[in-house]
Amino acid sequence: MKNIAIIGAGQMGSGIAQVSIQSGFSVKLFDINENQIAKGVSLIEKGLSKLVSKNIITESDKNSYMANLTTTTDFNSLSESELVIEAVSENKELKISIIKMANKILNDDAIFATNTSSISITELAAYYKKPSNFAGLHFMNPVPLMKLIELIRAIQTSHDIFKKLYDFTKELNKTAVVSEDSPGFIVNRILFPMINEAIFVLAEGIATAKDIDTAMKLGTNQPMGPLELADFIGLDTSLSILETLYDGFKDPKYRPAALLKKYVAAGFLGKKTGKGFYNY
Ligand SMILES: NC(=O)c1ccc[n+]([C@@H]2O[C@H](COP(=O)([O-])OP(=O)(O)OC[C@H]3O[C@@H](n4cnc5c(N)ncnc54)[C@H](O)[C@@H]3O)[C@@H](O)[C@H]2O)c1
Repeated sequence: MKNIAIIGAGQMGSGIAQVSIQSGFSVKLFDINENQIAKGVSLIEKGLSKLVSKNIITESDKNSYMANLTTTTDFNSLSESELVIEAVSENKELKISIIKMANKILNDDAIFATNTSSISITELAAYYKKPSNFAGLHFMNPVPLMKLIELIRAIQTSHDIFKKLYDFTKELNKTAVVSEDSPGFIVNRILFPMINEAIFVLAEGIATAKDIDTAMKLGTNQPMGPLELADFIGLDTSLSILETLYDGFKDPKYRPAALLKKYVAAGFLGKKTGKGFYNY
């Protein structure tokens, strides 16, 4: 596996592209939005420049990594990819439409992985022309810094493909944990009830955002407070994850806080839009 296509050049897609080019893969980064591509490439360049300034890589390493990256808005140009990693916005219909487009152009043995945070991998796999070649590769944000990848098996995923993807995570120098397909997998199922509760605490006027985050940072030894983390993840993505947990389990403990819905409706999506629980 050498040629990788990454679909979606947002915060996750560009991070996945960075770690992939750093590991010697040839990456085509696709998005429908030219501005997002430009932003994504600039994030990758900044990320690599930081490594140069810390003497972790040389300027010539950086240049050779960047030479492994091409960008495109032409979906058909992804046809020779051996592995496709989809990282478009967290919307089931959108992801299904991408899979259907991929069915038309990819070779039959191409592997399709989704970076979805919460949508059923089994359900998405059913839309792929070869469901046994489909699995979840759930990277953490920011991808270049976070060691973990959740590797999620759809009920249809073949053992061989799962093993190939496991080996791929090793080539990226990440640690993989294996999860069966279940809403929220491991991390988000445990993380999001905490983030949601922090939003309820804020909405009930029990404490300020800063104090909630300080309490959780200093009181439970987390590097980031839950509200800061939600802003970082994106409040739209956070809401989708909670809705998926709520839909999946039909358990009221996952009902999204009304304040989160209000922020998303207002377009306050967190760090990426400059406003969420904090101003950026
Ligand atoms: N943000 C996180 O912390 C995080 C962590 C793990 C996984 N994820 C998952 O990764 C995926 C992407 O999240 P993100 O935070 O990078 O979102 P983002 O909003 O930063 O990026 C989404 C990208 O998808 C692109 N896009 C939309 N429609 C498209 C289409 N039809 N074709 C190609 N590109 C299209 C957008 O232009 C944008 O560049 C989601 O499934 C999300 O759940 C996010």
